[in-house]
Amino acid sequence: MTEFKPGLEGVVAVETEIMEPDRDGGALRYRGVDVEPLVGRYPYENVWGLLVDGDIESKMPDPEPYDPVGLTGNAPADLQAETARLGGVWKLGKLNEISDAQAREDLGRLSAQMMSIVARSARLADGHADPVPDETVARGETAAEKFLLRWRGEADPTHAKAIDTYWVCTAEHGLNASTFTARIVASTGADCGAALSAAVGALSGPLHGGAPAYVKPMLEEVAAMGDPERWVRDALESGRRIMGFGHRIYRAEDPRSRILKRTAKELGSPQVEVAEELERVALVALQKRHPDRVLATNVEYYSAIVLDVAEIPPRLAPAMFACSRVAGWSAHILEQKRTGRLFRPSARYIGPEPHALS
Ligand code: COA
Repeated sequence: MTEFKPGLEGVVAVETEIMEPDRDGGALRYRGVDVEPLVGRYPYENVWGLLVDGDIESKMPDPEPYDPVGLTGNAPADLQAETARLGGVWKLGKLNEISDAQAREDLGRLSAQMMSIVARSARLADGHADPVPDETVARGETAAEKFLLRWRGEADPTHAKAIDTYWVCTAEHGLNASTFTARIVASTGADCGAALSAAVGALSGPLHGGAPAYVKPMLEEVAAMGDPERWVRDALESGRRIMGFGHRIYRAEDPRSRILKRTAKELGSPQVEVAEELERVALVALQKRHPDRVLATNVEYYSAIVLDVAEIPPRLAPAMFACSRVAGWSAHILEQKRTGRLFRPSARYIGPEPHALS
């Protein structure tokens, strides 16, 4: 039995060819390709192709016509439920019984449909029960434009650029909680809908994927108080975590944070100024409090600002993250299928000694 590692920190659970973080240099590569030059050069759907097929000219398909039933307007819940349901509606085969090519096709159909479900759910939350006609959605060129058209009936180019950049930057990031979840479910031979649906549930918490939802209200609080140093001091003294800082893997600035900060500036975000001020103060305070640990800005901090440029409400942040991560999840589900090994770690029993019920 090996040593127990809380949170499995440092435990190598899989070998992967999909993504490589350069922890100390702060770079990120998808299948060996640096992410930074991809932004603005290839839209998200091609990055999906790079991650899943290893080919930047390959693309995530367009979503096929499909009417989700029972949407509630709570996008993460709708996405999780509908994605699982698609497994039944489309009669998807079990991963251990279908070919790799079939799994790839299922993942493409599901990924495209998942974006569409989020857009439809967001539209409902905005008070529109009627879907946007398919002809209107078809006017969009990229997945981001189509997403906006399906949601709002229009695609502002600045909003589309913000979403595309965010999706490209967050498309894949190794064995985080949601990706591990997708791989665990895939390892049981479940269908691709079940694996992707489980992954959606895993990223709905604030410690993974949900942080952007907390960043905007935090910036508003800081701006209203007008004293970032006091805000940070109060937060740390009361044991709160500052959302958008710290990372399990990076011990340097998260490269995605750098790209997103630049994008937020280029797109004229009014939040950048207060965000930079809070960042400066928070980094100093965190360094002082945890001198042995690098607690740098993570992807979710400037993600929140970029999503705000596209007028994405904070409550939609986890679902937006899910839309981007369908690429990474799909790539990992395929990789897991190829290894064919069921996950079954061990637990060390530390409960009571055997005893009789009194
Ligand atoms: N604000 C304040 N303190 C933080 C912090 C933050 N954002 N991140 C970590 N810390 C502190 C912890 O309180 C802990 O202090 P302690 O040892 O005195 O208890 C110490 O740093 C180590 O924290 P730990 O939870 O072990 O670090 P981790 O590497 O496991 O955590 C995160 C990684 C992302 C979960 C963590 O940094 C966090 O909660 N960040 C805020 C949420 C967030 O931005 N999530 C998005 C991640 S991409």
